Amino acid sequence: MALESVKNILRMADEAGTSVISFICIDYNMVYSVIKTAEKANTPALVMLLPEHSGKNNTFSIKGFAETAKDLAAGVRVPIGLHLDHSYDYESVIRAIRLGFPSVMIDGSARPLKENIELTKKVAEAAHILGADVEAELGTIGLETSDSAEKKGIYTDPETAGLFCRETNIDSLAISIGNAHGVYREKPVLDIQRLEEINAATKVPLVLHGGSGIPDDQLREAFKKGINKFNVGTEFIGEYYKALVDYTRLKEKEDNPFKLLEVPRFVQERLETYLEAKLKLSRF
Ligand code: 13P
Repeated sequence: MALESVKNILRMADEAGTSVISFICIDYNMVYSVIKTAEKANTPALVMLLPEHSGKNNTFSIKGFAETAKDLAAGVRVPIGLHLDHSYDYESVIRAIRLGFPSVMIDGSARPLKENIELTKKVAEAAHILGADVEAELGTIGLETSDSAEKKGIYTDPETAGLFCRETNIDSLAISIGNAHGVYREKPVLDIQRLEEINAATKVPLVLHGGSGIPDDQLREAFKKGINKFNVGTEFIGEYYKALVDYTRLKEKEDNPFKLLEVPRFVQERLETYLEAKLKLSRF
């Protein structure tokens, strides 16, 4: 089927009291594996591009990623959504929408509240005219691999979250409740009470970033209490990397350049095993 709108998938997740998983993908193998495994598991899923992977690392063009996701989603019967992760300015978000992304994130969380509201509102107005959905962020989600104080997260304030959503007209809100991007150094503890308060103060689906390494019992609790979209990157990319290392070790004695052609299937099988287990967290 055609791509489903992220807004509709989040609504379905909300009605089912669960969360859709949004996977950062860097290339065809990852996009393919998410969509094929979602089909096998009969579970909706999102594929997501982090713009800096496209720009800085030259992994995939923005348009190429969107067209690949559309093409693969057309071959399955389960709802698949396409989303652009952290983008920091109006121009790049609008450009990505024009290049085929029907859902985007504008992240003004590092700016003062007033500026975050102004930027997010401007993006939401334009994106909605273009038919796209908008996720924004309030509070800051920390970066676990950084030691600097300013990179530690600032928890989302429930009352400010209510105001932010009313002012900006966004479709979903990423919140900070003890989650962080990257590999957790200590076991994370989500502030579930704060989540409940944010959920009571807002009407939009809530998004949990930094999904790699959060224990499953905490995730299930968070899904029941208002998280309807859950982002995973580090863990999934790590599985891919391990698969490549294993393949290289397995084949290093074979001096045949065409062994390269076996890599996609090898990697896809490994990713599908990981994804099958992960998608069980989503209970649609
Ligand atoms: P992790 O890389 O920590 O799983 O976080 C992914 C994410 O939240 C992307 O926005």
